[in-house]
Amino acid sequence: MLVTCRIPTAALDPLREIADVEVHERPAPLTPDELQTALRDKHGLVSVVTDRLDRAALEAAASLRVVANIAVGYDNIDVAYARHRGIVVTNTPDVLTESVAAFTWGLILAATRRISEGERLVRRGEWRGWALDFMLGMALPGKRLGIVGLGAIGQAVAAKAAAFGMDVAYASRSHRPPAGEEQAAWRRVSLDELLVSCDVVSLHVPLTRETTHLIDRKALVRMRRSAWLINTSRGPVVDEAALVWALEEGVISGAALDVFEREPVVSEGLLALDNVLLAPHLGSATRETRTAMAELAAMNVVAVLQGRPAMTPVA
Ligand code: DGY
Repeated sequence: MLVTCRIPTAALDPLREIADVEVHERPAPLTPDELQTALRDKHGLVSVVTDRLDRAALEAAASLRVVANIAVGYDNIDVAYARHRGIVVTNTPDVLTESVAAFTWGLILAATRRISEGERLVRRGEWRGWALDFMLGMALPGKRLGIVGLGAIGQAVAAKAAAFGMDVAYASRSHRPPAGEEQAAWRRVSLDELLVSCDVVSLHVPLTRETTHLIDRKALVRMRRSAWLINTSRGPVVDEAALVWALEEGVISGAALDVFEREPVVSEGLLALDNVLLAPHLGSATRETRTAMAELAAMNVVAVLQGRPAMTPVA
C-alpha cells in the first residue's frame, strides 16, 4: 500500500494491520514518475490533492483496487478511467465541512474588515495612528451573502450568515437547502442574479469542466463594485488573470483566496495587490479535521481491500 504523505498514527495503524505500507515522508509531493514507479505493485493508495492521478498514473498501477483521497474534492483523479478499471475512488466529505465553513468566514471577515491588509501595513512600520477615516471596511449586517454551490460546505457557510446579520442568496444546479425555518429564507437565484445582487460572493462548487473559469471577466463585471469575492473551493474556478484585472481596475472591492490556479504558484499580479487576501490552501487545516480526514481515508482503504463497500465512494 502507498500513502503519499505523512499521516497521523491513528490513520496509519489500521493500514499497517492489513498490509505493508510505504509512506512518502518527504514534504514535496511525489513527481509523476515517482508516483508511477511507487504504484506499480500497490493494491491500495492514500492520496492527497497534490497527487496527480491521471490516466498515465493509474495505467501504471496494474494491481490498484482503491484510491482514498484525503480531500472532499477529487479533481486530481481521473475518476472516469478509475471506474473503467474497477478502481474504487473515495473522498472525505462531512468531516471537514465545519472547518472549511469556519475558515471561509475567517476570510470573509478578514477581507471585508481589511485585517490582513492592516497587519501588513503595521509590519511595514507604516501605521501613523488612529484616524476616523482610516482603512474603512464594509459592515456585514444588512448585506447579502451569495453562495455559489449549495453542497454541504455551502450550506454550512450559509447557516452562519444570520450570526452576522446577512441575508443569503444561492445559486446551485443540484442542491436545495435542507428543510428549516432559517433555510427557508435563503433565496434561490440564477448565477447572474447572484453576481449582480450580492455583497459577498463565496464559491463552493467542485472543479469540473463546467465550473472551470466559472468566474471569468464577464462574471466579474456583473458583480457590484463594492463586492468581495471569496474562494475556498478550487483555484481554476476563478480565471486568475481576469481577477487580477478586476482588482487592479476596481471592478470589485477585493477578494480573499485560499486556492489558486497553479498552486503553489501565485500570480505576480495578485502578490502585488493590497485588496486581496492570499491564504495557502488552509480551508480544512485543523489538527482535528485533518486527522479525521486521514482516518476516514484509511477506513475506506481497509474496507475495500477486505472486500467490503467503501464508506464514502465518490458519486
Ligand atoms: C479538500 O478537501 O478538497 C481540500 O481542498 C483539501 O484540504
